[in-house]
Amino acid sequence: MPTAPDELLLPCAELHLHIEGTLEPELIFELAARNGTALPYANLEELRSRYEFTDLQSFLDLYYANMEVLRTQADFADMTRAYLRRAAAAGVRHVEMMVDPQAHLLRGVPLADCINGVASVLATSLEDFGISAELIAAFLRDRPAAEAEEVLEQLLESRAPIVGIGLDSAEADNPPEGFVALYRRARDAGLKCVAHAGEEGPSHYIEQALDLLLVDRIDHGVRCLDDSELVDRLVRDRVPLTICPLSNVRLRSVDTLLDHPLPQMLAAGLNVSVNSDDPAYFGGYVDDNFALLRDTFDLSADQLAQLAVNSVEASFAQPARRAELL
Ligand code: ADE
Ligand code: ZN
Repeated sequence: MPTAPDELLLPCAELHLHIEGTLEPELIFELAARNGTALPYANLEELRSRYEFTDLQSFLDLYYANMEVLRTQADFADMTRAYLRRAAAAGVRHVEMMVDPQAHLLRGVPLADCINGVASVLATSLEDFGISAELIAAFLRDRPAAEAEEVLEQLLESRAPIVGIGLDSAEADNPPEGFVALYRRARDAGLKCVAHAGEEGPSHYIEQALDLLLVDRIDHGVRCLDDSELVDRLVRDRVPLTICPLSNVRLRSVDTLLDHPLPQMLAAGLNVSVNSDDPAYFGGYVDDNFALLRDTFDLSADQLAQLAVNSVEASFAQPARRAELL
């Protein structure tokens, strides 16, 4: 349940959220039992003991392994419903949720089961949870680009209800430049474009995502601070950066939350928002991220409100919905 006091329940948009990263340990065991999937952990405690990460890859290994319990459309729907319930309590009023269809296809789960499972719940999320929702299909940068291009074609052919595409998974040595054709195809199809860049990878991956993939937003982007000219450009062009503070701590981009550059980024005038990334793995949902930031940095009500406004302004929400939330 939410740990934040009422004043922190700012109506905000969550723009950087992997639905598979909301799979809580209890649900992993429930789905494994339902589907007869053998788990390599005897109990919840043993699973939880694996949630100590040294870097992005050590997290991704567990994240992909735990996906094994997602087999049917109902599994994807139940996971999505559980996230929306928790997000509503956290003050989220609009979400742009990433899903990794390629990862599920590689495990033999049909594209339709994954997409329809998530999308069927998002279709009524405003009525059911007070949260408007959009879906982003994210592609795996540590897999061949041609494979991503093939999956995008299948998504387009099946008229999957996606607002855009993203790029995630292991960033080091997998630069945006390999995915130019994928992003061109997506843009030509009228989709929005986002990409993880500058999470663990260098700042010039952020420039590549902007210059070559022509993205509308950067996911993470914390490494922009290594290049002051890039910071000037991001400020000038108001490029949205979807920041995930607890994720950065748990994946060891920073040693502690006190070392997180979010206050510096706000002071520089960067267009930053606060997001939870993979909340079941990183110790908190968006309200927890806000509460810990506020307490660690003594953020003012104005600064917290600015972060919430930034999130709505950077969203792909319909104009009428944006107006409602601003
Ligand atoms: N997939 C899920 N979470 C991710 C993250 N934080 N970075 C890259 N890929 C991811
Ligand atoms: Zn992410």
